[in-house]
Amino acid sequence: MFNPEGTVASLTMYLPQLSGRKSSSFGYITICWIWLQKKLYSVKFDGMFSMKMKWIKFADSLNILEDMLGSKEMIPVYFNNQNLLLIRHDNNFYLVKNKCPHQGMKLDKAKCENGFIVCPWHHYGFDLKTGRGAGLYLDNFPFDFRDEGVYAGFEYFSWF
Ligand code: FES
Repeated sequence: MFNPEGTVASLTMYLPQLSGRKSSSFGYITICWIWLQKKLYSVKFDGMFSMKMKWIKFADSLNILEDMLGSKEMIPVYFNNQNLLLIRHDNNFYLVKNKCPHQGMKLDKAKCENGFIVCPWHHYGFDLKTGRGAGLYLDNFPFDFRDEGVYAGFEYFSWF
């Protein structure tokens, strides 16, 4: 007869030896235990090992965003400990990382064309909505326009 507890015990005993890295056995055991709990007992670990979004207030209102940009298409901003670019293109606002994913150059002098930000260095274009372009990915952060202000979303990995 299948004994799930015995399987857990066996796996947790032998996994570190199989990998040859005893120092990280706790991590293997934990992952193994969680996987088995999910599979054998249908235990739900909602929200574990998933990406979550943290919303941080960026400005008090849409008018503040307009004032910040003035007549410019984009300005560099330092927010949430990161160098970012605030962009206005086709009447939409975008917040992207001020660092090209190709060779890490700044994007201050970039231009926006047809929904893409085009790096001035090697002219790779990145979609302002998704960040995708040239097989690379430019980090971007969505805006949420609420009554109490404009919030920027920052994704992070959550263990729990
Ligand atoms: S550094 Fe931006 S495209 Fe090369």
